[in-house]
Amino acid sequence: MIKAEKLSYSFPQKELYNKVSFTIEDNVHCAFIGTNGTGKSTMVDMILHPDDHLYEGKLTMDVPGRIGYVSQFYSLDEEKEETVFTYLSETFVQLQNQINEICDAMATAEDLEPLMEKYQTVMDEFQAIDGDFYESNIHKQLKVAGLKDYEDKLLTHLSGGEFKLVQVIREMMISPKFIIMDEPDVFLDLSI
Ligand SMILES: Nc1ncnc2c1ncn2[C@@H]1O[C@H](COP(=O)(O)OP(=O)(O)OP(=O)(O)O)[C@@H](O)[C@H]1O
Ligand SMILES: [Mg+2]
Repeated sequence: MIKAEKLSYSFPQKELYNKVSFTIEDNVHCAFIGTNGTGKSTMVDMILHPDDHLYEGKLTMDVPGRIGYVSQFYSLDEEKEETVFTYLSETFVQLQNQINEICDAMATAEDLEPLMEKYQTVMDEFQAIDGDFYESNIHKQLKVAGLKDYEDKLLTHLSGGEFKLVQVIREMMISPKFIIMDEPDVFLDLSI
């Protein structure tokens, strides 16, 4: 559940929100519609990073799990030769590395209990996102999105729409409890 109560926020040159209130309940889809520059992306940023904004009113986030986020803009580092597969694997590899580090630490630790707890937490997180099968899941998801054989393509070689799809796949694969997509369909051709 996300709740805004009498939320006000302005940039020095522009007032965006003046005492707005809304609630997004669990298990709903919600569309946030407004013309260019009215503050949609700013609201998303406030929800994701409330501490970075000096707002008035109250913002409550009660989401029991991961939050997925597909940003409106994403600047790719042209120098970084990252493939679609590497980009989609990142969260899984990070968790795997954490698991390996904990196992290494266990080999020399005197008190195993805190490490065991940590191991269980990371392992639960890994399994919750079907970590054991992430490679085949990536393959499947790309196929469903019409991006078969894209695993080894560089992100910088994708079109805007292709990259948007890959971004959505990445966020969906971490099984978020809540996902925010800021204009996810902007570059996409929808078959109707
Ligand atoms: N960091 C900033 N400093 C000052 N003004 C900003 C800043 N970020 C955004 N703005 C202004 O705040 C307004 C809202 O911007 P925002 O990006 O939230 O709009 P939006 O509703 O997402 O628009 P769009 O549909 O074009 O994506 C705009 O007028 C923008 O110029
Ligand atoms: Mg925007």
